[in-house]
This record gives sequence, structure tokens and C-alpha cells, in this order.
Amino acid sequence: MSSLDGDVSQNGSLKRVDALRALAEIEEFDFSRSLDKPPRTLNMERQRSCDERSMNELFGVPSPSPRPSSRAENNFRLSDHLDGLHSPGRRSGFNTPRSQYGFETHPSVAEAWDALRRSLVFFRGQPVGTIAALDNNTDEQLNYDQVFVRDFVPSALAFLMNGEPEIVKNFILKTLRLQSWEKKIDRFHLGEGVMPASFKVLHDPIRNSETLMADFGESAIGRVAPVDSGFWWIFLLRAYTKSTGDASLAEMPECQKGMRLILSLCLSEGFDTFPTLLCADGCCMIDRRMGVYGYPIEIQALFFMALRCALLLLKQDDEGKEFVERITKRLHALSFHMRSYYWIDLKQLNDIYRYKTEEYSHTAVNKFNVIPDSLPEWIFDFMPVHGGYFIGNVSPAKMDFRWFCLGNCIAILSSLATPEQSTAIMDLIESRWEELVGEMPLKVIYPAIESHEWRIVTGCDPKNTRWSYHNGGSWPVLLWLLTAACIKTGRPQIARRAIELAETRLVKDNWPEYYDGKLGRFIGKQARKFQTWSVAGYLVAKMLLEDPSHLDGNLIFSGDRAKSSLLTHSSTSHFDHVFCLYICAIPECLFSILL
Ligand code: GLC
Repeated sequence: MSSLDGDVSQNGSLKRVDALRALAEIEEFDFSRSLDKPPRTLNMERQRSCDERSMNELFGVPSPSPRPSSRAENNFRLSDHLDGLHSPGRRSGFNTPRSQYGFETHPSVAEAWDALRRSLVFFRGQPVGTIAALDNNTDEQLNYDQVFVRDFVPSALAFLMNGEPEIVKNFILKTLRLQSWEKKIDRFHLGEGVMPASFKVLHDPIRNSETLMADFGESAIGRVAPVDSGFWWIFLLRAYTKSTGDASLAEMPECQKGMRLILSLCLSEGFDTFPTLLCADGCCMIDRRMGVYGYPIEIQALFFMALRCALLLLKQDDEGKEFVERITKRLHALSFHMRSYYWIDLKQLNDIYRYKTEEYSHTAVNKFNVIPDSLPEWIFDFMPVHGGYFIGNVSPAKMDFRWFCLGNCIAILSSLATPEQSTAIMDLIESRWEELVGEMPLKVIYPAIESHEWRIVTGCDPKNTRWSYHNGGSWPVLLWLLTAACIKTGRPQIARRAIELAETRLVKDNWPEYYDGKLGRFIGKQARKFQTWSVAGYLVAKMLLEDPSHLDGNLIFSGDRAKSSLLTHSSTSHFDHVFCLYICAIPECLFSILL
């Protein structure tokens, strides 16, 4: 994390010039006007059929209860300063969230909506994102007062699921506009397609004007560009389109171009021998040196997901068609590479343990010349009999065997993982519950690195000491990803267990950014409070569990949903059978927000 002013203090006026260059004065879009017509009515009205009601009964869900009036009053108070910002005749966007099926909600849900609404960031009167953290008790602001692209994803999903798509549209358009800015670090220009890591609204009280200021990595600690931002952006465009049924945003020439620019960056030909993307340390959620350089799972899984989304969003015009062809080829190669070389389970571990080395030619089994002695001690105990996962990184003579939560969940969601692999990942989470979930979900990485390894790998980073922050810390934001993966694999009880662990404590602790310790027992050493993605991650998890049709993937996942393997899975309970049958039976036309 870095201060926006940090540049100036370090290197005086020269750096200031660069910081000023990054000042992006954002004019209102001409093209956004054309989008001002009301979006297609959301396909939200669901028939509460007999089947559905009996499902609720089966779930043991109490019958709908009236919303407590205190909640509504609370909302009214919170939205005081927001009044008048919404267009008449449209959903205000600041309503009390609806519980689609009348599920009784936990008191933390109301607290979470309040916190989420407080985090809204406005630009020229329109909500354009959510601030990373609203922690007023910390002197050290760093850049937590910005709207981060990756942090906004769970906020966006919460708003979409609650029938409030405007903020998501605004965010997509504003960040698209930022993409077109000249990006420069010292004397070096970044690729045209790079999306910002974050942006901030600057108020000038004298000129009574507002400008946006973006960071593409030129202010970030380590000066690394966010590779994930562009992928999340494409994902959000798809989520917006799918949930609203409004294709006009994605079809805008500007959006099509923005997508092509992102894709050009990662589909370009070079010296690569692998279909995976080569990245610097710190280019994703783990935005400090943590030994994830190379081909990190988080980026590869997001890349795969973004390519799948882009296939659905690109227009079939001359330019679009060319990309569709390149994407299809890349998806083919990428899924083969990932499923073959990143996958580990007991059998694969045993094979690596017995690997021959120094093999040459096409017949080599140990293609990357991984030396069995490089297998870490912990993995022999960690690997369960049933279960497996995608390891963190694969490159010549290097396999990073650590568990990375985000990459594995995205692999499930995007169907990068086969149905069998998805099931195995869930088995692993269940059988290694203490290690991966502990007392606070969820470990971002497992295990932590310490001592000499920590010195070498992190460069003695005091923020990433063992079992803290990125180095084995527990991040509540990951709850939404776990829940989505659980629903896709028909194992909702896993998510329910994790949510139960978190929900009361998160409110009591004021929504920390992360927790420390082997079991996640302590609020993180430098964790911000009121961290927005902890709030939104919890909300999305709750909403997905409450109404799994949000995740209905029939349109893109046809044929690859994990239902068949799930239904025969030995540990699948009666409850899960029912649940799985339920989500598989949801008609395609229903409102769904993810892929
Ligand atoms: C931390 C996280 C990063 C996040 C940012 C803002 O730097 O590592 O993933 O985007 O905080 O919350």
C-alpha cells in the first residue's frame, strides 16, 4: 500500500510531475448519455411455486416475516445525504435489501448493508464505487481511501443481486475511461489495455470541481501493475449484462474496444512456451512480494474466467471474430496445461516424489525438471486421501505447492477445474478445515513461510510475517468465493459452516480486513476496520446461499456443471442431494448474476 503523496516525499519535484501526470481529469461521457434510458426490467419477479415453497420447508427456512421497521428507519437515516441522487421512477438503489425468498436474515446482514452503503464513493453526483476501507481510527491512510477494482467486485455483486445495477454500470464506464489514459512509470509507458488498480475522487473546494485520480501501479508499493484488474473488469461487465439482461453496455464500441485492449495484452505472442501468463510478484490480490512471481494460479484462473466471459461478450464483427478465434485456441491450451500440470492429489504427489530428473525430449514425464527434493515437508501430511487442488505456480524446476484460496475457487467457478477436480477441492477444504478455515474463514495462502524462507521470499517484509496478512492470514472477503464454489459443487453446508463462524464476530470486530494466527484467532496486526470487501464478501455469501439461482450457470456451464459427480459423491448428504437437485432444476431464464 502506498500513499499518493509518498512519491513526492521520496524524490521531490521530479516524482511530483509523474504523480500529477497521473491525475486523470475525467470528463462526462458523451456515450454514457445513450445509456440513460432505463435498463430492461430486471427479471427478478419469481413465482413462488409450490416446489419452491416446499424447498424452503425442506431447508428448514422459516416463513417470511415482515421487515423490522427499525431497519427501514436506519436506512432512511443513512441515506439522508444520498437523497435526490437517484432518478425518479427508477429504483433508488438505496433501499433496504430484499430477501428474495423471505429468508430470515441474521442481524449482521443489516449491519453489513449499512456499512456497504456508507462506503459508497460519488463522482459528480453519481455512485461510482466503494472505498477500500472506512477506518477513521487509523492515522496511516495509505491508499485505503481509494476505490480498488478488485475490492469493488463483491460490492458490485451485492448491488446487482439486490437489483441496483446503476453503480456497477457507472463503475464500468469510469474505469473504462481511465483505461484510455496515458500510463507511465518514469520514462516507460505501460500497455494501452492496462486497467487501474484503484482510483480516487479528488474534490477541489475552490474550483468546486471533482476529478478522478488513478493508480496503474505507478504509485503502488513495488510499482507493479495489477494484472487482475482487467480480468475483473471483464467479469463485472458479464455479471452486469447477465443480471440486468441489458446488453447495450457491453455492446458499446467503447466497451468492445476496452475488452479487446485487455485481451491484446494477454494474448500477444512472445517468447512464451506455456499458455499461462508470466507475471511479476504483487500483481494481484497478493500485492506485495510473496513469491508468487512466475505463473501464479490466481492470475491463471482469472485469465481463464475472463476469456470465457469475453467469448460471450465480444461482438461477432470483423475485429471481434479474430479475438474469438484466438481466445478459443488459448482456452483449449490453458485448460490442458492447468489441469495437467497444476493439479495435485495424493497420486500426483506420489508421482512427483518418485520423479526421474534430467529428462530430455518429448517423452519426458517430468517436463519441467522438478527435483523431488524440492517437495516441502508439510505437504506429505497435508495431502488427504480424498482431495486435491491447483498448486500456486509451475515453471521450470519450480512448483509452488502452497494452497491459494482465490485461484482455486475461481477455478471451480469458471470450470477451469473439471467436475472431479472441483469435488476434490471441496473434499480438501472439508478434510483440512482447521488449516484452511480454522476459527475465521479463510486462509488466503496455506501454509505460512517463516524464518530463512520468509527472509528470502518476502525480502524480510514485516507486514507479511508468518500467519499474518498475505502470509497465511485469514481474509473474510474470500467467503463469497467459497460460497459460490460450494453452491456450484452442491456442497452448501461447507459455506454455511464457514459463514456461521464469521458472522457474529465480523460485526463485533468491525469488519476487519484480515485475521492473524494459525487459526485466524486474532484481528490482523495492521488490519483496517470497516474494510469494504469484508463487508461485501459476507453479504454476497449470504445472498448466494439464500438464493442459489444467482449463480445459475446454465447458459455458460451447460454440460459442465458438476451435478452428476456430486450426486454420486459419497460424502454428499441428503440435504445436498436436495439442494443440488434444486439448483440444477432452476430454469435458464431466471435471474442469475455470475457466469
Ligand atoms: C491490500 C490487499 C489488496 C487490496 C488492497 C485494498 O493491499 O492486498 O488485495 O486490493 O489492500 O483493500
